[in-house]
Amino acid sequence: MGYNKKSNAELLALKEELAAQYAAYKASGAKLDLSRGKPETGQLDISNELLTNMTGDGDYISTDGFDCRNYGILDGLPEMKRIFSDLLGIPAENIIIGGNSSLNLMYDSIARFMIYGVLDQTPWAKLDKIRFLCPSPGYDRHFAILESMGIEMIPITLNSDGPDMDTVERLVSSDESIKGIFCVPKYSNPTGITYSDATVTRLASMSTKAKDFVIMWDNAYALHDLYEEGDVLLDILSESARFGNEDRVLYFTSTSKITLPGAGISMLASGKRMIDKIKQLIGVQTIGYDKINQLRHVKFLKDADNVRQIMKMHAAILRPKFNFALKSLKEQLDGLGIAEWSYPRGGYFISLDTMDGCATLVWNLAKEAGVTLTNVGATFPYGKDPRDRNLRLAPTYPSCEELKLIMDILCCCIKLASVEKLLAKQR
Ligand SMILES: Cc1ncc(COP(=O)(O)O)c(C=O)c1O
Repeated sequence: MGYNKKSNAELLALKEELAAQYAAYKASGAKLDLSRGKPETGQLDISNELLTNMTGDGDYISTDGFDCRNYGILDGLPEMKRIFSDLLGIPAENIIIGGNSSLNLMYDSIARFMIYGVLDQTPWAKLDKIRFLCPSPGYDRHFAILESMGIEMIPITLNSDGPDMDTVERLVSSDESIKGIFCVPKYSNPTGITYSDATVTRLASMSTKAKDFVIMWDNAYALHDLYEEGDVLLDILSESARFGNEDRVLYFTSTSKITLPGAGISMLASGKRMIDKIKQLIGVQTIGYDKINQLRHVKFLKDADNVRQIMKMHAAILRPKFNFALKSLKEQLDGLGIAEWSYPRGGYFISLDTMDGCATLVWNLAKEAGVTLTNVGATFPYGKDPRDRNLRLAPTYPSCEELKLIMDILCCCIKLASVEKLLAKQR
């Protein structure tokens, strides 16, 4: 029976039962973490070869004969570009290989637009007001970049097929101060949705009042399918080229969750004019990124087909965890009318919405029972969830045994918080 159909007496009895369960969990002294979207150790082991595959016997020479121990090659080894190009269907000449973090490339891109402007436009820092559209729930580190640079964030509802495009089109066509949008288009962090073809085409073709409007296309989970048949994302670069808008798109990804987070290889792609401009500016910032790491990755990853095999190994580790977490939510919460959650087919997260006004209470209850959840509000601009209901669950890092206890504690906390909320309403 749905909790909202229960009488006051029934809710009070339920509260007593749940409070006893909760007290037992609390007394068990658990110390568990569901907050971190990190690969587990077994996934890291897949890439152990990276730690030893540069033996020094001439391994430092790239396919075109370049000695990677030395300075040179600003925009990345051709063989590293080839792998990304084959995987993502982006021409190699549109790609810049970066350092160990795509987030770093995103930060630098926004910083460059602030300082130098987008192509030949006025630097954003010289304008009175700069605003960005932020599909939400979204990735807190995108919001942190914008907030740190004083860029005003406008939340946009993220639907199951992408951002609410009617609102996006209405805003960008009428407001010159709106300079961009941050997107995680595939297995979005945290809801797991993938943008539909129609959404990608609308983003690629829409007319914007700002001539210097950019789409920050963070395809961090491009290859991170959990099941044999993955979601298919329309290629925004070729799509925007059809409308002459290819320089509007800044396309990012990395091998952070293919090889080793923090020690992988990142990539930025865009239209030719934008890539040339970025190369010119990066050339001032660095003589070149770490080519030894690129070479190490090329030796390990080999080619696009082998990368796809590696991703299957990751999926084999992650799938049971996602399936278990989802089964647990279904068994414990389905039909109660107190929570809704996503069924992602890839990526690293499950997004769960509690009843309005309950997420903070759930977070606090879980914390006291020893389970750390991602901060409430983290998935919204300025850390403020307007309905206090979204929780980002990251089931990848804990072991299967830990996950079982975590899900039991979490479900108990959700039930308890919901009962308290409903009782407060009845008062
Ligand atoms: C959407 C998204 N983008 C980027 C990153 C970080 O990428 P990188 O390690 O390449 O900086 C993450 C990490 O969780 C992410 O979820």
